[in-house]
Amino acid sequence: MTLRRGIRWMVRHGLVRRTVQRQMRAGDLGSRLMIDPTTREDPFPYYDELRAQGRLVRTGLALISAHYDVCLEVLRSPNFGQMRLDRLPGILQLGRKLGGNPVLGPIEPPSMLAVDPPDHTRYRKLVTRAFSARVIATMRPRVEQIADELLDEITRSTSRGPAVDLVTRYASLLPATVIAEMLGAPVAMRRQFLDWGAGAALSLDIGLSYRDFRRSERDITALHRWMLEHFAVIRRAPRDDILSTLLAAHDQGDQLTLDELSSIAMLLLAAGFETTVNLLGNGAVLLMRHPDQLEVLRVQPQRWAGAVEEVLRYESPVQRTGRLALRDTEVAGHRLTAGAFIVVLLGGANRDPAVFPDPHRFDVARPEADQNLAFSSGIHYCIGAALARLEGEVGLRALFRRFPDLALTGTPHRSPTRVLRGYDAIPVRLSSRTQTVTSVPL
Ligand code: HEM
Repeated sequence: MTLRRGIRWMVRHGLVRRTVQRQMRAGDLGSRLMIDPTTREDPFPYYDELRAQGRLVRTGLALISAHYDVCLEVLRSPNFGQMRLDRLPGILQLGRKLGGNPVLGPIEPPSMLAVDPPDHTRYRKLVTRAFSARVIATMRPRVEQIADELLDEITRSTSRGPAVDLVTRYASLLPATVIAEMLGAPVAMRRQFLDWGAGAALSLDIGLSYRDFRRSERDITALHRWMLEHFAVIRRAPRDDILSTLLAAHDQGDQLTLDELSSIAMLLLAAGFETTVNLLGNGAVLLMRHPDQLEVLRVQPQRWAGAVEEVLRYESPVQRTGRLALRDTEVAGHRLTAGAFIVVLLGGANRDPAVFPDPHRFDVARPEADQNLAFSSGIHYCIGAALARLEGEVGLRALFRRFPDLALTGTPHRSPTRVLRGYDAIPVRLSSRTQTVTSVPL
């Protein structure tokens, strides 16, 4: 453990970890969310318990809500901003200074996810257009082609045995290929990006072990180094892609510092696959476990877009976010002082029976599924929502069209993360009819 990294870990994770462990022994509800393994595996009973206790529940670490209307209000309110480590109280600030420069992580400024206006507005303006619903709709044929090529490759390789890990062979490669092409990053490096992204994803959780913290810093640093080298390559031969546009905003337009440029580029790349892999993985497992719902889609293929909304609602790939009160304010009848922190349970809001009747039922024809908060709300609403929806629909539909009797051969393995919810391995057996099913109207 290097001294500075050790201090950084202690400030960000070690102290919280100790506090939360003590609170959990004392029966505190908030701490279960952070470290309890049962709650990580299946958080939904916990969300129900928390929701029954109130609209906004005060716990040892923070205020928490699993009520849809409270979550929506907080996300949309100008009285709340992003939680940033430079807003930590007194002694922790000192530790932060001693810990030296942190890596450019996804929840550290200048990440778009970690800043408020006016910086946030400036960053978003540079990339919003490339992710608009109109531009994304034009990408459908290419996403279909990528999905088909990956499925062809799986079909070819089944001569080596019918069992496949759906995550490594499909759910991760589809979004990694799409976002690499879109940004102008080399597709041949997609497995390396996925590996670095998995390390970066750990940093979204709090209370990490030192080992995980070290891995996340190592992988983010490696990605950052690669990105800086890649900027030099683009500088020599600019192209018509998002990274070239961002680089020009730094080099010519003077609109971004180098750290801002790197941070936006890394966030777009990693967010482009780290979450969508979970939409595809969660969706595939849900549909294999609910053959009646798959049958609905076979008979009514026009329901695929709605089915993706239901997957997003039922097993939200991002389970929670948080907001800090920027000034004294009031929420759900609670008076809050500036600095109060609220954990917004997106996955809990999405199972709120006040908005989603019979919320624990997976129903691809649910009429209100698109009200889900899986992509958050307000100014940080996911930039990649249209792209993720497209990849979810095209990816799942192509998968079940090619392999209509896709089946689990073992228990899918959950990823170790808490904020992100998905699987890191899904063992499946492919259909015996793989080559002949393209006419099935899925
Ligand atoms: C199923 C897939 C996805 C889910 C569930 C998801 C979810 C989210 C959520 C919940 C937020 C906001 C967090 C907050 O309010 O604090 C967010 C922000 C963001 N997402 Fe996604 N996302 C997905 C896919 C993507 C894709 C494909 C991209 C492509 C680049 C992307 C890029 C971003 C970016 C850049 C932000 C920051 C926006 C801002 O702070 O203004 N996401 N996403």
